[in-house]
Amino acid sequence: MNLEKLLPKRGFQRRPMWFWSGVTVVAVIIITAIAVPLGIVLPKRGKPPSASIILPLYIYPHDITIVESRKDLKFTVVVNPSSGPGSESLPDSHYREAIGQFGKYPNVELLGYVRTSYAKRSIEDVIRDINVYAGWSSQNMSLSMNGIFLDEAPHQYSHDADSFMRKVGQEINGATGLREPKTIVHNPGVVPDARFHGTGANITVVFEHDYDSWRASGQAAVAALAPNKRDTYSLIVHSVPQTLNSGELQDFLASMSSVAQHLYITTNRADYYESFADDWSQFVSAVPG
Ligand SMILES: *[C@@H]1O[C@H](CO)[C@@H](O)[C@H](O)[C@H]1NC(C)=O
Ligand SMILES: *[C@@H]1O[C@H](CO)[C@@H](O)[C@H](O)[C@H]1NC(C)=O
Repeated sequence: MNLEKLLPKRGFQRRPMWFWSGVTVVAVIIITAIAVPLGIVLPKRGKPPSASIILPLYIYPHDITIVESRKDLKFTVVVNPSSGPGSESLPDSHYREAIGQFGKYPNVELLGYVRTSYAKRSIEDVIRDINVYAGWSSQNMSLSMNGIFLDEAPHQYSHDADSFMRKVGQEINGATGLREPKTIVHNPGVVPDARFHGTGANITVVFEHDYDSWRASGQAAVAALAPNKRDTYSLIVHSVPQTLNSGELQDFLASMSSVAQHLYITTNRADYYESFADDWSQFVSAVPG
């Protein structure tokens, strides 16, 4: 099943422009559970492959207590001062403080948010954003970034889009201010054209939509991907029904985990990533490290 065909306008409609903007810290948190012993919580269901969690959120620093509570998991926080790094060479002092707090934890990795507008944005502006993030470390090591989260990555193939993403990847890899090993995330939000493979992403968000779409078509689209690459795939599912019982939730997570390693779910039905849903801590607690 071709998710892109079912969601033809998604690239243009999937969320409003203010989605990632704002003065708060936007976090995409990748929690790496090296071996998820879901067998412990699912004694009769067997053990799905190990999972991670990817979390796109607007959060204030005090909401990052989850990092403290789960030192056994790896978190990757994507910082986004202003739909990108902002116009200055450094973010404001509140933002710097927040980044410094995240960066204190050895289980945290920091990525800078850069929009590519489906490879239609001026590449000079994209490169500028990357270099601003890379430059933060020269001003204060506590601000050093581990990589870049490329939002609005293209999913429809064209030679220009391919060249654009490759060039952007080269710029990231060549940016000396970013910590090694660098992580590059592409977020097309749907399964991209296979020809984008090799354009530099370590992780690709291959589904970002609501629960009903996941059930209707997303799951099948993602299941068609190469199972041996699941560690390079991420899934983000919002509007998850609050009525799921814990067994259903675990089955849902196990089904996601069977096709992709980096997962995020939220029951939020609007402003999906601006807050932790009420059951967020339940969700994270259910992921053993
Ligand atoms: C570096 O950043 C951290 C965290 O924001 C801050 O506490 C520290 O004072 C900064 N150091 C300098 C030299 O600015
Ligand atoms: C991302 O991929 C590049 C190229 O394959 C690799 O050198 C780098 O180590 C990867 N990053 C991480 C964090 O594994």
